[in-house]
Amino acid sequence: MTQLVVPPARPVFTSSDRDAIARLVDEALTSGSLTLGPVTERFENAFAARHRADAGIAVSSGTAALEIILRSIGIEGRSVVVPANTFFATAAAVLHAGGRPRLADIDRSTFALSAASVASALDNDCAAVILVHIGGVISSEVEEIARLCAEAGVPLVEDAAHAHGATFHGRAAGSFGSAAAFSFYPTKVMTSGEGGMILTSDERLAAEARMYRDQGKAGFLGGEHVRLGYAWRMSELHAAVGEVQLARLDSFLEVRRRAGSRYATGLAGAAGITSVPLAPGTASNYYKYLAMLAPGIDRDEFKRIVREDHGVGMSGEVYSSPLHHQPVFRSITHGPLPVTEAVCAHHVCLPVHSDITDDEVDHVINAVRQVAADLAGRALIS
Ligand SMILES: Cc1ncc(COP(=O)(O)O)c(C=O)c1O
Repeated sequence: MTQLVVPPARPVFTSSDRDAIARLVDEALTSGSLTLGPVTERFENAFAARHRADAGIAVSSGTAALEIILRSIGIEGRSVVVPANTFFATAAAVLHAGGRPRLADIDRSTFALSAASVASALDNDCAAVILVHIGGVISSEVEEIARLCAEAGVPLVEDAAHAHGATFHGRAAGSFGSAAAFSFYPTKVMTSGEGGMILTSDERLAAEARMYRDQGKAGFLGGEHVRLGYAWRMSELHAAVGEVQLARLDSFLEVRRRAGSRYATGLAGAAGITSVPLAPGTASNYYKYLAMLAPGIDRDEFKRIVREDHGVGMSGEVYSSPLHHQPVFRSITHGPLPVTEAVCAHHVCLPVHSDITDDEVDHVINAVRQVAADLAGRALIS
């Protein structure tokens, strides 16, 4: 019998999805309206409605979405609280928008900023706080964090690059802060090839964001540049892919959530590997399935054996290296970050695809249980 091979990532486009995209692309090419046209507007409205936000502003990437939000808030010369455990772009966007990232520690149960770390980082210099919904998990402290920010008069920004369709007590990612940034990079739960979306229910912020994404122009057809914007538009062709993927989001979530609960059951009682449990009310989109390896296990060796002996490609961590270890961020100021250090060093992400089968999930469970138990046993003996 040939062994199942489970890749680390697998974007899903059925033949009917591809046909639907081809029709929309044909529509755009025939009309000659190739950017900021009707397909993009439909995609924006549908994505905003799906996450219960008033406005969606489609842009060229999740990174652009973050920078535009920060420029629209106005953070120049001030600090922005960023978790030390996030993707490069979260902190880079702060620097590009003229601010100073201030790294704060995370909570080990959510991999995100904790209310306590936000409370201790908020001061008069703080222009915004960025909460990242790591792996598609919205922190169970999100309402407390939003309250702390509101009391301090500091906008809360959601980096929802991982969190399409994720909810906490039924409230969608993108509806907790002043604005949220989503990414449609190919590995994400839904993709437009490349692209991003800003969600906000703040009319002023939405108007600013629309100007920034289109070279800072006061209006699409005008020639007056009133902000230092950039070419951050989304093309109609990307929006066509995004619109079709959005129509599939609920079915993707169903598959991913089924895989998530199968992993949780299948890993219960395993030696050397433990699922990261979700708090009550948290409905992850399972962008990543998060698990911790026992401290004595070497993650690189674990991943190599799982891949070479079992054909399972583990997906990338979120994140293997905290921001303050990245050479480009060495000069960023931060206090002690012990939880970030431990989480980054010891977690793994099991593969989850929007069409993953029960057989594939079971194969991964058997593989990781076996390899983690072997390595944990070896660590005990040595
Ligand atoms: C947490 C986080 N923020 C921002 C981004 C940036 O998104 P993009 O790659 O679309 O620019 C990513 C993308 O990988 C991300 O994971």
